[in-house]
Amino acid sequence: MNSKILEVKEQFLEELKSSENTQNLEVLRVKYLGKKGLVTELMKEMKDLSNEEKKSFGQEVNTLKGEVTDKITERTKELKELEIQKEIDSMPDFDISMPPAINEGSYHPVTLVQRQVENIFKSMGFAVEDYSEIVSDYECFEALNIPKHHPARDMQDTYYLDNGQLLKSHTSAAQNAIYKKYKDALINDGVPIKAIFPGRCFRNEATDACHENTFFQMEGVMVDKDISISNLIYFMKTMLSEVFKKDLKVRLRPGFFPFVEPGFELDISCLICGGEGCPSCKHSGWLELCPCGMIHPEVLKAGGIDPDEYTGFAFGLGLTRLVMMKYGIKDIRDLNSGSLKTLTQFIDE
Ligand code: DAH
Repeated sequence: MNSKILEVKEQFLEELKSSENTQNLEVLRVKYLGKKGLVTELMKEMKDLSNEEKKSFGQEVNTLKGEVTDKITERTKELKELEIQKEIDSMPDFDISMPPAINEGSYHPVTLVQRQVENIFKSMGFAVEDYSEIVSDYECFEALNIPKHHPARDMQDTYYLDNGQLLKSHTSAAQNAIYKKYKDALINDGVPIKAIFPGRCFRNEATDACHENTFFQMEGVMVDKDISISNLIYFMKTMLSEVFKKDLKVRLRPGFFPFVEPGFELDISCLICGGEGCPSCKHSGWLELCPCGMIHPEVLKAGGIDPDEYTGFAFGLGLTRLVMMKYGIKDIRDLNSGSLKTLTQFIDE
């Protein structure tokens, strides 16, 4: 072997031995294989050699280059493993077979009610959809017939990201995506759109016992030919009677929401007095529970569905409110408190 090449090789092996971590190895790699590295420099010496010498010199440098590369890769791998092992060894010991220090975990009351409502709707043929908490202005407002500067936006002030997206202020924000997802099956194969989409919502609220900046809703839509208000009433009444395990009366009052026409507030007969009138229902016999309505033609159009051919209903159940009513929770802030004392009291039915 050419003496110069041999010299570089021996020097490299020596330095490799004393490299104790992956950073040292990176320095070594640059020193030998970098643009001005020792091996690279050897290559440059070829131009001064005769043709005969060039061949064997070139081969030897190439072999060295391969060796240096392989050795650095191999040693880097070894050192990385050692570094990981060191980190593992430095962690405190624990016994994975130990029982947890606290008793069994439990589901959050919102999760319990959400699952219960989901199961009821699933049994009636509805799909359960999950949707992002970050949405665009289009999804949250424009596609729902709430153009910029519409006063309805005032009630839904929320948190905006630097890129113009926002934390969804209502689950209705998923409607447009749901229509687009299912419209082909509706139009081509006549499969009605039936979907619910529970989700966390956000609003810029001053918090008190009834208001939180983070809460849950459960939206639902059904679209097909000839869907009417009676379909809406039937599904809502069935679902609520199942949730509360009693046959409830429901009534609709007019309510305005830009994405439905006509729009309603749905009330249920008071759970406490059964409709006789008591302090809980302000002596009216009714509790306001769920805004709903027939989907506005513009909203169907934005979802790619022809409103002359199809109609549908939508509802926006206040899931958090439902949980409070079901379990008699008086302060909404308890639900986001993270307090195990409060939140572990609820059991699945
Ligand atoms: N998204 C509305 C809100 O949070 C509630 C709502 C009203 C949803 C009527 C609906 C509906 O689907 O039809 O204020």
